[in-house]
Amino acid sequence: MTGVRALLTSAAQRLSTAGVPSAASDARLLLAHAWDVPVGEVQRRQVLGQEPEAGVEQRFDELVEQRSTRVPLQHLTGAAPFRSLELHVGPGVFVPRPETELLVDLVLAEVGDRPAAQVVDLCTGSGAIALAIKSETPSASVAAVELDPMAHAWAVRNAELLGLDVRIDCGPAESAFAGREGTLDVVVSNPPYIPVGMVPIDPEVRDHDPEAALYGGSDDGLRIPLEVARRAHQLLCPGGLLVMEHADSQGDSLPAALAREGWTDVADHADLAGRPRAVTARR
Ligand SMILES: C[S@@+](CC[C@H](N)C(=O)[O-])C[C@H]1O[C@@H](n2cnc3c(N)ncnc32)[C@H](O)[C@@H]1O
Repeated sequence: MTGVRALLTSAAQRLSTAGVPSAASDARLLLAHAWDVPVGEVQRRQVLGQEPEAGVEQRFDELVEQRSTRVPLQHLTGAAPFRSLELHVGPGVFVPRPETELLVDLVLAEVGDRPAAQVVDLCTGSGAIALAIKSETPSASVAAVELDPMAHAWAVRNAELLGLDVRIDCGPAESAFAGREGTLDVVVSNPPYIPVGMVPIDPEVRDHDPEAALYGGSDDGLRIPLEVARRAHQLLCPGGLLVMEHADSQGDSLPAALAREGWTDVADHADLAGRPRAVTARR
């Protein structure tokens, strides 16, 4: 048996050597997962000098080993935090990112307390954006679409587990929600937008996020985002709002392309780190 502190220190060193960012935090989260307790309980047990059982230590060692090979933390714990939700994620679905939470703020600012606002999330992945909007604005009618059947299954599972009434279709965003043209108040999307050929450096992204979730289909990464925006234009009511995430290198090019395609009130928005990451535009 080894003390919690010694276990965490040695795990953090292994993770750090493997190039894992936030190694100490990952070690704590993995021990909490192996011990099947919240992370705060790990700290409490550390203070009390409690030791994990041998089985927990072994499970923790295996998790640290996998994380050292850069398997995403969220695939190991099976969960990703997003806004106030904990989403289930794993192989086959994009892990939601903290910067995407900005899109939810932009949608909520538009919807406010408007009763029965009609909101659609195109390219929903795990369902993160759609489910967060529904949980924070229960009066809104929220629907979503996802192309990839595996990711779609994760989104449906998340909606069921969270008990959130969000319709989630499986299919291409470019032709989604036929029959609802001209009726939506807000269309939100975090589409794939990485320029083709620009392979992400982080192994967690490069080797574990599905390719369909990453690449925008052209050298500038904007082909799929602009196709999604065209469908949004058809679906929105006059004056309706598009909210779309983009790469920080696309803070000029995407707004300019939307303005060329007839959108009005085009504005770009920075994330908490001050990087341009989202555009809003009105039909
Ligand atoms: C960057 S991920 C974003 C997922 C989720 N919205 C989020 O923010 O975590 C993009 C998602 O779009 C899906 N996707 C790619 N092309 C699509 C298309 N043409 N129609 C619908 N979904 C698409 C991918 O499978 C992936 O789940």
